[in-house]
This record gives sequence, structure tokens and C-alpha cells, in this order.
Amino acid sequence: RPLITPVPPLPALHVSVGISMLTLLSAIYLVPALGPTFVKANLKGRDLLKTYNTPIPESLGLVCACIYILSLIIFIPFAFSSISLSGSHTQYTVREGIIINEFPHYQLSVYLSSILSILVATMLGFLDDVFDIRWRHKLPIPIIASIPLLMVYYAERGNTNIVVPIPLRPVFGALLNLVGPLYYLYMSMLSTFCTNSINILAGINGSETSQAVVIAFSVVLNDLLYLPWPSDFRIPVYLLGSRSEVEIGGIWSAGMAYGSRELVERHLFSLYFMLPLLGVCLGFLYHNWYPARAFPGDTLCYLTGMAFAVVGIQAHFSKTLLLFFLPQIFNFVLSCPQLFGLVPCPRHRVPRFDSDTNLLYPSKALFMKPPSGLSTFVLRIFEALRLTELTTHPQTGVILEATNLTILNFLLVKLGPMNEKRLTQTLIGIQIGGSVLAFTVRYGLAGLVFDG
Ligand code: UD1
Ligand code: MG
Repeated sequence: RPLITPVPPLPALHVSVGISMLTLLSAIYLVPALGPTFVKANLKGRDLLKTYNTPIPESLGLVCACIYILSLIIFIPFAFSSISLSGSHTQYTVREGIIINEFPHYQLSVYLSSILSILVATMLGFLDDVFDIRWRHKLPIPIIASIPLLMVYYAERGNTNIVVPIPLRPVFGALLNLVGPLYYLYMSMLSTFCTNSINILAGINGSETSQAVVIAFSVVLNDLLYLPWPSDFRIPVYLLGSRSEVEIGGIWSAGMAYGSRELVERHLFSLYFMLPLLGVCLGFLYHNWYPARAFPGDTLCYLTGMAFAVVGIQAHFSKTLLLFFLPQIFNFVLSCPQLFGLVPCPRHRVPRFDSDTNLLYPSKALFMKPPSGLSTFVLRIFEALRLTELTTHPQTGVILEATNLTILNFLLVKLGPMNEKRLTQTLIGIQIGGSVLAFTVRYGLAGLVFDG
């Protein structure tokens, strides 16, 4: 059994849980209190899928961002005070007559650079809400926003080794130093992906916020696996009426084999960022739930996306994180023909609302001129995979319309019309299903190709 290192600063975790509850209460209280102020400042939108025209306050993600970022700042002294770090008041040790400052500057720079990236993302999101920034302008900004993170990552390791799957080891060896710059490029793309992929899976009440809630919850669960539980700690799992036990301590010791205290600290760091995010999003979801009294705006999408990218990069679990983004990856791949101009992309791709039945139907993209050969080819493949429904000219067979390429329209094509609340619940169900699959792949199947 690997050596068990001293227990890391768990008292700070209790504070983090307390602060997260406060973020939840603050969001519940402040969002309706500040809504009218946002409407007055012209930050409002019409709910596209309702019969009424009442303006709904928009960009309330800004309130969430303020609560979240302030809570992260207030938490700094707790995470880095000597009491929580070493259980004693000393921060200096004397070695060979030299006084050594034990203060964890490196961890603090990880923490501060993360806040910096989240701040830039919030600013970008808010600017997008106010000015509707063009795609080609908003794509590179999260990449630049991730530079502080990458610099800190570089400072720690300077190496970008990846673990090679067992079958390929005879060729590459156990560790492969993936071309350095490529790995940094991948990590900076991660921030662009996380922020935008949540933003394009949007448009029905509660969709953006509930994605953030489920992903944050999944990351928290994953982090908990790495805390220093007693090695015989088990939790009962009831599946189809039969009881079995999962040995949490066992997973932890497997993790410990890799990297000891460092690993625990990384996942604690992730918890410090995810718990208040979960709190603030849950509080906001209360007001954003059908029928929405507040809209998150792009600010919340960028804030949450960047927070996920930050923990994925800083706590070194970007691949596991991507597994929690399965529905977003699906929606992004499905959207590509519209995002890259093969198929017309209307300003809003939300489903079509029918006021008589109160149901949502797939919305359609209309071709003003006949689609190119490539567009036709791609759409025909999507149609064969039942991802879209096409309307074609009865005589010539030329495509006239295609249902918009989003997961929401796909669900409506597949499952038939349903009301908005039902569609959000279905989306949440899929997101949870994705996370269950992610855990299975990560802790079940990964054992087949990676050891430990
Ligand atoms: C993204 C999507 C767009 C979708 C929009 C909905 C892409 C490329 N872009 O654009 O297709 O229509 O999000 O958010 O996929 N709204 C509602 N109900 C809601 C949430 C939003 O009706 O529950 C409407 C409101 O009118 C609100 C507007 O959507 O004002 C906000 O849209 P915005 O976030 O600015 O759109 P984009 O992010 O640019
Ligand atoms: Mg948006």
C-alpha cells in the first residue's frame, strides 16, 4: 500500500462549503432584487417561447459572477492562512541555519491566475450581451484569457507528458512527451470550447444553468473521490434492487499511487472553485426555471465555461472534464455545418413555439438559394443518421429546408413535440446520463487501457 501522506488542509473545505451556501442564498435573494435595475438599463429580452411579451431581465449572469468571484476572493485567506495549511502558526522553517519561507506561493499563483481568467471570461460574456460580438471576434478571447493559466501550468511542470495506453506502449513507451506547444494549444482551445459550447446549447428556460449545475456537481463528485478517505471507506450503491458497495478508499489509494498529497491538493483546489459555483448556479436556477423570471445571458455561459476549463487545466483532469461535456460535444459537432456556413444559421436556432398547443416543434433553417454539393452531402448524411429532417422540392429533390442542427431540435425530431419544461427536463436527464457514462468510462473502462 502506498505511503499515506499527512492530511491536507481540510478545515478550509468546511469554510468553502459554508461560503457556497451563502452564494446560494445570495443568488436566490439578489437576482429578483436586481432584476428591475437590469430592465431599466435595457438589459432585457423577450422570452421567445411564450405568448406574453413581458420583458425578462437578461444577463443576470453578471450578478452570479459578482457573487462567485467575490466568494472566491473572500476565501483566499482561509485557503492560504498558516492555520489551515499546516495546522500550526509557523510559516517559516529553519534549515541549515537559513530561514525558509514555507508559504505556498505556487498554489497562490494558481489560485490568482484562475480568478484572472474567470474575470476576463465574465467581461467578455457581458460585452457579448451588450454588443452582440461577432463569432470571429469572440472565439480568440478565451484563448488569450487562458494564458495566465498556461503560464502557471508551465511554471510547475514545464513538461507535457501524457500517459500512453497500454497497447501502444511497446511503440511509444509509458510516457510520451506530446509536442509541448501542441499540448498548450489543446488546453487553450479547451477554454474556448467550454465557454462557447454551453452558450450554443441554449434558448429554453433553465437550459444553460442546468448544464452548469450538472457539470459542476459531476466535477465535485469526481474531486471527492480523491480526498483522503479511510482506505476501507465504502458507500452502498443500490442498483435495480440489489445492494453493492463501492470502495472509495480504494480509488483514493489507487490515485495516491500516482502522486500523493499533490493530487489531493489539486482536487481540493477544484472543490474550492466548484462548490461556490454550484451554489450560485443552483440559486440562479430557482429564478431561471420555467417559466423564467430571469435570463442568464452570455455572461453566465462564459463564467461557468471558464470555471470548468480552469479546474480541468489546473487540477490536471481535462480529459475527465471533457467526458462531462458529452452532450455539449454532440451539440457542437451537430452544429458545425451551421457554425461554419455550410447551412444557413438564423440568429436564433431555438425550437418553434406553437401557442395553440403550447408545444415546441423543431425549427427550420431555410435555404435562400440551392445548397452546394458539400452542404447537400452533409445534410443527407445527417438525415440518414436521423439527426435532422429535410424538406425537399417534390420534383427536383433539391433541399429547401432543414431542421436547425442543435440537440434540442434533434430531441424534438426524435421524440416528437413536447412542452418547454419537458424539453429542459429531458436535457437534464441526458446531461446526467452523460455524467454516469463519463464515470463508467473513467473508472471502469480506463482501467483497461491505462493502469491505475
Ligand atoms: C445562442 C444560439 C442561438 C440561440 C440563443 C438562445 C447558436 C450559434 N446560437 O446565441 O441559436 O437562439 O443562444 O439563447 O447556437 N431566450 C429565450 N429563452 C431562454 C433563454 C434565452 O427566449 O430561456 C432568448 C431571449 O430572447 C434572450 C435571447 O434568447 O434575449 C438571448 O440570446 P443570446 O444569448 O444573446 O444568443 P447567442 O448566445 O448569441
Ligand atoms: Mg447566449
